[in-house]
Order: sequence, then structure tokens, then C-alpha cells
Amino acid sequence: MPAIAEPYRIKMVEPIRMTSRDERETAIRAAGYNTFLLRSDDVYIDLLTDSGTSAMSDRQWSALMLGDEAYAGARSFDHLVESVQESYGFPYVCPTHQGRGAEHLISKILIAPGQHVPGNMYFTTTRVHQELAGGTFHDVIIDEAHDPGSQHPFKGNVDLDKFQALIDQVGADNIAYINVAVTVNMAGGQPVSMANIRAVREICDRHGIIMWSDATRLAENAWFIKEREDGYAHRRVAEIAKEMLSHFDGITMSGKKDCLVNIGGFLAMRDKRVLTKARELVVVYEGMPTYGGLAGRDLDAMAVGLREALDDDYLTHRIGQVRYLGERLREAGVPIVEPIGGHAVFIDAAAFLDHLSQDELPAQTLAAEIFLDSGVRTMERGIVSAGRDTAGNNRHPKLELVRLTIPRRVYTNSHMDVVAESVIRVFERRKDIRGLQFVYEPPTLRFFTSRFEPLPAPIEETATKEVVEPEFATAAP
Ligand code: F0G
Repeated sequence: MPAIAEPYRIKMVEPIRMTSRDERETAIRAAGYNTFLLRSDDVYIDLLTDSGTSAMSDRQWSALMLGDEAYAGARSFDHLVESVQESYGFPYVCPTHQGRGAEHLISKILIAPGQHVPGNMYFTTTRVHQELAGGTFHDVIIDEAHDPGSQHPFKGNVDLDKFQALIDQVGADNIAYINVAVTVNMAGGQPVSMANIRAVREICDRHGIIMWSDATRLAENAWFIKEREDGYAHRRVAEIAKEMLSHFDGITMSGKKDCLVNIGGFLAMRDKRVLTKARELVVVYEGMPTYGGLAGRDLDAMAVGLREALDDDYLTHRIGQVRYLGERLREAGVPIVEPIGGHAVFIDAAAFLDHLSQDELPAQTLAAEIFLDSGVRTMERGIVSAGRDTAGNNRHPKLELVRLTIPRRVYTNSHMDVVAESVIRVFERRKDIRGLQFVYEPPTLRFFTSRFEPLPAPIEETATKEVVEPEFATAAP
């Protein structure tokens, strides 16, 4: 495999700061051991998310300067619509401030209270909006997606039998729509095959079910189809993406990922009635239908970015960089989700910290430990992210992961080397790591703002400590 360098030159740099272990200890304590609550200035390499963290191109910065800031009828909106029509093939577009704004609107439009919404694994904000609209989410992803070691090339696929079984159980009329995410974030950035999309479409057509996609990472999904699915090796990713989307009635988009912008999102669809409803709602929750909570310049930057993200060379480097990091970890024996996905490397925290139970929050703990080691910020995607069910009980997801999410066009492979070395150091002393417990938990989307503290040392360890360090007890307030 020949070396692949960044398919761009660096024109502007943003200095980042290294920190001492003492500074990091103070910072993580102040953040309640939640990496979401760290200050960015205390972070050395930020792998919290690939969302809104992309570096824009010179063309996008130029487009920004041409933004039309008219309250209504801005030319920037026309640019976005043209770009979506050309690259994604949907006639109608309704901008929103980001992906969850689009999820909010489509959930309100398509879900009648009491209806069911199947999807290929949940995403946090998506499911919350479905539930707030009175829907019940059903996971219809293939079983392999829940197995970090399965080598299935399309672990994001919908399990057609599970989907059919749900239709048989509740009736097609009670299914609001199916939401197919490309790629599947919570499964590890895993793709869905074209054959699977086609097969889901057939079932939908047979039963009159609406088929939408969370197309947030569609370009990365299309690249995997080119790599892995028969008949696509010689096609351009842009063509594959358009073919994928041709099967859907509409999409919700977080522009913060595969449109390479720092903020933005939209709904795109074929049905004019859905557009009309979206426009009725967007003015209430987001802004006028031609800006949807964004500035004109944001729309212009998104119109350019969504085309750039479909470039074959860009994607080969992008996914190659994620793979580079993943392979370094795998070679050192660190348990990761395989195959390595499109936007992130996911560490199997349950296997990494196999002496902790899931209620001792292994992924939350590991994210805090990696930050302490090197200032690298990662994200929990396990029991904390899964939250509580409608009855108030903790959900226990099968996957307990730490996500090392690679921002687009931001870091080099030297940064990836630093990250790999840090994770490997923590792996070597994993047996000494104790879990965390909640000290504050908000009612929804708890992973964003919960606070934690280390679990107390086991009795025998505390006892030994008291003998060795008697001043410890007297110094306590
Ligand atoms: N769908 C998927 C698959 C996502 O990954 C996200 C965001 C959204 C929808 C919501 O979009 O943030 O623009 O409102 N994912 C980010 C992440 C937050 O870090 O994975 P948004």
C-alpha cells in the first residue's frame, strides 16, 4: 500500500498547548470527570467529536465572504439548494441550525403519538426527538453490529427479518417511517451496503412505509461501498452517494460532518407536502425557511463543503487516517471495534477495563484516564450515553465504547502517533484503574453534562493506605 499524504497544503495554523499532569488533574476534576465539560484550552489533541470541528478549505472561506445576509430570499439559500439537488438529487431543502434541528422537525412531521420508528441502531439526539414526538424507537440493525469483533463489511446494515417482524407485530400503518443512518455512528462508524438499502426500499414499497436516512456521514458510507461492494470499485464516490440517496424519500443532515462546516444542517426531500410542513415548523423553531437559523455565509460554506466531501482523494486520506490510528492500537493489543469505521476509532472499554462492571462506567473512566495521561480528549459511548429508558431504568447497551473521533482535515498522522502512544500507556497500567460514579445526572442526554467522581478504593486498599499514610486521615476536612 503506497503512502497517502494529505491531499491539501496547510495555509493557516492554530497553535495548541501541551499541559502538565498536574494541570490535567485539576482540569478533569473541575470537569467532574466528564470530557464534555473540559475547557478546550486544557485539551492538547481534541478527538471528542468530528462534528463542527472540520477545517474549511480556501474555497469555503471565500464562499463565506460572499454570503447573502438578507432575512428572506437570500441568494445563499439558492446556492445550497443547487448543491443539494446536484450532489444528492433531492428537489427540496429546508435548512436548520444543525442536524438535531432537522431531526426535531421531521419527528414532528412524520410521527403520530403511539407510532413506531425502526432504525439501524439509535443515535442520541435522533431517538430523543422521536420519543418527544410520541414515537417508540426500535433497533433493527443486524446482530453483528453489537459485536465489536465481528468482521462483517457492512455492520450498519438493517436486519430485514427484524424490520419485517416489527411490521408484522405492529402493522405498517403504525410505523411512522424507517430511519436508515449512513454510516452508523454508535456502531463504530460502520457502513450500510447498497444492496441492503435496495432491499429495505423493497420492503418499504411493499408496505407503503416512508424511508428516510440520517445522511450525516453519507460520503464516508459511499467510500466504503466503493471499497467493499461488488460493482462499485471503479465508480466515483459522488456517483455512489447519489445512487444511495436515490432510494430515500428524504434525509436529515448534520452539515457539521460530511458538509465540512462548523455549523449547519438541513432536511432534503422529494415530497412537496413534507416541505410545506417543514416550512411551517421551521419558522417557529429555527428561522425563515431560507435560512433556518443559519447565517447566509453558513449556507454558502455548506454548499461548497458538501461537494468537497464527496471527493475520492479526500475520502481515501480521511478514512486512511482513521485506519492508521486504529491499526497502531490493534497492533499493540488494544481492543477496538472492527472493522475500523469511517470517522473514529472505537475502543472496546468493556474489554479494556474488564475488571470493571458496566455500572462502574468503564468507558467514562477510560476517557478520563486518557485525558489525564496526555491531554487527548475522547468521548464515552456506552452506558452513560445510552441514558435511561422511559420507565427511568438505566439502559445497558451491548457496546461500551470510547470514541477517538478524528476531525476532518485538522490533524496529521504525527498527532495520531501521540494519541496511539498515550492509549497504549494507559492500556499497560489498566489493572490499576478504578471506576467512576455519578454525582449529578440531568434528565435527558445525560452524557453532555453529568458529573462524576472516582469510586472509593476497596476496603482493604483504604485500610493499607491508612497504615502507610496516617496523616491522610487527619488531614481530611
Ligand atoms: N445523527 C448522527 C449520526 C450524528 O452523529 C449526529 C451528531 C446527529 C445526527 C446530530 O447532529 O450534532 O448537528 O445536531 N453527532 C455528533 C457526534 C454530536 O459527536 O457524534 P447535530
